[in-house]
Amino acid sequence: RTEVVTIPVVVHVVHNRAAPEQDIGADQVHSQIDVLNRDFRAANPDVGGVPPVWRSLVTDARVEFRLADRDPDGAPTDGIVRVATGERVFSWDDGVKSHVTGGSDPWPSDQYLNLWVCALGGGLLGYAQFPGGPPQTDGVVILHSAFGTTGTAAAPFDGGRTATHEIGHWLDLYHIWGDDDGACSSDDKVADTPNQAGANHGRPAFPHVTCENGPNGDMFMNFMDYTDDAAMFMFTSGQVTRMNACLEGSRASLLV
Ligand code: ARG
Ligand code: ZN
Ligand code: CA
Repeated sequence: RTEVVTIPVVVHVVHNRAAPEQDIGADQVHSQIDVLNRDFRAANPDVGGVPPVWRSLVTDARVEFRLADRDPDGAPTDGIVRVATGERVFSWDDGVKSHVTGGSDPWPSDQYLNLWVCALGGGLLGYAQFPGGPPQTDGVVILHSAFGTTGTAAAPFDGGRTATHEIGHWLDLYHIWGDDDGACSSDDKVADTPNQAGANHGRPAFPHVTCENGPNGDMFMNFMDYTDDAAMFMFTSGQVTRMNACLEGSRASLLV
């Protein structure tokens, strides 16, 4: 695909009535959209941190994100839905995605990428639904303090990369280490990312060799690892191929 495609986004800000900081500002929402539009275009200012051996793999996904300007009924909107809730904290159980459980119902997930922003428990920064799942829970959930680059965004997850990572899953990317818990036996189904043992955290030093992947080691600066926001800055050509297959297949109805 040579043309750039745009995905309409609705952000559900689900905030506890007693915690006004969770009702994040529009500027914080916009700061997240800006990060996505850099990261998915390989236009992020930190892309130069990719080690020289992997620079030729850095790939522009030619995907952009735009806050919806029409709601499902065709009425003008700023693309932000605000819902006050009695829930103090949400979890991985999709509760934030329905008004029945104190959350916000999705807009039709064949037309919008739904992002829910809320308080999450257990150290969870966010979670995503892969393509092909139930439409009523389709989308991405992100902890408000790991969302965007301003407002309540807090280091080391104040670079907007949680959304980049989770939208990677939503576009069918697996964790770069293949979720095999150090076994080196399964990978991410992408040929140009080295097989690696497990998740990396923080800001690792290059090279970090595992699974006999020397001399270059783990591609821990990939958005699909678990490093700090300031330490992840690339998608590869193989990852972009998978995302494109998803956008031409099960998620084709989203493109405008
Ligand atoms: N689902 C992962 C978690 O909750 C997201 C990791 C995102 N990493 C990041 N640097 N923002 O841990
Ligand atoms: Zn993940
Ligand atoms: Ca791989």
